[in-house]
Amino acid sequence: MSKARASGARGRLALTAAVLAFSIVPACRRPETPPQATELEGAETKIMDPHSFSRPSEAVVEHLELDLTVDFAARILSGTATLEIDVAPGATELVLDTRGLDISSVELVRPGPVTRADYKLGEETSFLGRPLVIGINDGTEQVRVAYRTRPDAAALQWLSPEQTASGKPFLLSQSQAILARTWVPCQDSPGVRMTYSATIRVPPELLAVMSAENPTMRSAGGVYEFEMPQAIPSYLLAIAAGDLEFRAIDDRAGVYAEPSLVDAAAWEFADVPAMISAAERLYGPYEWGRYDLLVLPPSFPFGGMENPRLTFATPTIIAGDRSLVALVAHELAHSWSGNLVTNATWDDFWLNEGATTYLTYRIMEELYGAEYAAMLEVLGRQDLAATFEELGPASPDSHLKLALEGRDPDDGMNDIAYEKGAALFRSLEAAVGRDRFDDFLRTYFSHFAFRSLDTETFEHYVREHLLDQELADGIGLTDWLYGAGLPADAWAPQSSEFDRVEAQIEALEDGSRPSELDVTDWTTHHWLHFLRKLPAGTTSADLTALDGVFGFNRSGNSEIQSAWFERSIAAGHEEAYPALREFLLRVGRRKFLKPLYTALAATPEGRGWAREVYAEARGGYHSVSSNTVDGILGWGAE
Ligand code: BES
Ligand code: ZN
Repeated sequence: MSKARASGARGRLALTAAVLAFSIVPACRRPETPPQATELEGAETKIMDPHSFSRPSEAVVEHLELDLTVDFAARILSGTATLEIDVAPGATELVLDTRGLDISSVELVRPGPVTRADYKLGEETSFLGRPLVIGINDGTEQVRVAYRTRPDAAALQWLSPEQTASGKPFLLSQSQAILARTWVPCQDSPGVRMTYSATIRVPPELLAVMSAENPTMRSAGGVYEFEMPQAIPSYLLAIAAGDLEFRAIDDRAGVYAEPSLVDAAAWEFADVPAMISAAERLYGPYEWGRYDLLVLPPSFPFGGMENPRLTFATPTIIAGDRSLVALVAHELAHSWSGNLVTNATWDDFWLNEGATTYLTYRIMEELYGAEYAAMLEVLGRQDLAATFEELGPASPDSHLKLALEGRDPDDGMNDIAYEKGAALFRSLEAAVGRDRFDDFLRTYFSHFAFRSLDTETFEHYVREHLLDQELADGIGLTDWLYGAGLPADAWAPQSSEFDRVEAQIEALEDGSRPSELDVTDWTTHHWLHFLRKLPAGTTSADLTALDGVFGFNRSGNSEIQSAWFERSIAAGHEEAYPALREFLLRVGRRKFLKPLYTALAATPEGRGWAREVYAEARGGYHSVSSNTVDGILGWGAE
């Protein structure tokens, strides 16, 4: 289907052809991987991604070369994206995704001579943006787009000096799910992979980093060169620039952060090398060279983002006691589930997050024991139960396989993918035993390495390699994947540590004072369970008494604080509101903002108060978070 071109291309093209025939999206640039898709006969549909305009079966981007200047004053990235493409015989168009990009020219670069290309930008569709349709012929090898972003580019957040610890400006990106197109013209689908290189120019007092091989030192002129030799989908394109310092943790892991945070971060993440080793023991080699973390300012909209080689992380996991490092295990686990083996479309998002959530529990068990992992898993199931409650019993959004066409994928991504997905992995483990399931996962990761697959292909692979018909029927595999809710016989995690917590809550209900409770050796997870399980009738006076002994309101632990604020809002406990206000002004992590603003919006007074705080906080949030909170508070709608 494609022409052979660069050396090594034949292996890749054979893979592409085999892969398309068997419903896996093409993986480019892994010539050393032989085609292995023969088991998948029967599933012969080509996967269409409803969230991308691109048509990779006609012309597919294999390599991206960025040359961008970062202008903090104008809040603009400008420069060129040069795309190496592989074109099917007879194809005449290369289609890229763009949103809010100002295109100044498009050239056909190789083979020479360089010529101006015909191009047009299609109609704007909300959240999808506009297709950039470039006239090519089947000899075209390289296309160059000159463009600039706009100050409101949805992926990018530009922080002013007042919003950072260092007092220097900061730029960060968040490309998942479909925001890469707001800063790079690309085939913005998780089914298309490319390698990339970049030249990034920043003010000389800043360090630039990407999801690639990174510098550890400032360059005198502010020019940084990057190389990403492994092929990745566009949602893993990432950039940040700020007053960053690097600390090595060991010879393959390290951390970047603003100077005042970097030592605390390196201490907090000391167990990362052990996590990598544990994950490798369980799931096979770490394929990405280095594993570093970038600690961002607190406005970062996620807890963590698995940008390859460089996980982006919120500073709210630096608790001072290493109690929130499961998040690092999660982002690291994506190096197998997600970055190596990728969901083909956002309808298959659970393949990334469900597998990763299961891997996280296993990695945490390796490091800290089964009881520790059980606490995490019980908390996860509580989140899942709350999500089922929110969605209602028959919601299609509670299916693992989603149907997000026509919607912003961001709206359909919730705890279902994470915790129902992990629960299915537990059921598979229980059905065949841990050893067999571990073998299966290792084979799965190496078989699909550097490729994307959809839920149907996963199901097929499980039926071929793990479960016979009887076992598949026994666990209700079809219902798990395509049905609502949680199958009744799903394996349920148990934590004896949480039994201790529940005993203390009973004591409280029986009249014990907070100071009389036995909280010996309680960790963050015990406290989270405690706060979640306090009886619904807990009053503001009860909370005052608890806070007097345990100091929740001023806890340095963001998870405990946010659970405490949720209880406080439910009980109308206004003593907590000054601290809550500070929290909402400082922290932009959507996972915290969403439940807090939602709880506040439940009463007219709460809503009024929330709107006042939000008026001040909104400018400090990333668009991912402000979009969500806009919806909760009806911001801009009246
Ligand atoms: N890949 C996700 C973040 C994400 C999901 C971004 C969907 C955009 C769309 C990341 O790995 C993640 O799951 N982060 C969680 C971490 C947690 C589950 C440990 C977060 O940010 O809270
Ligand atoms: Zn994740």
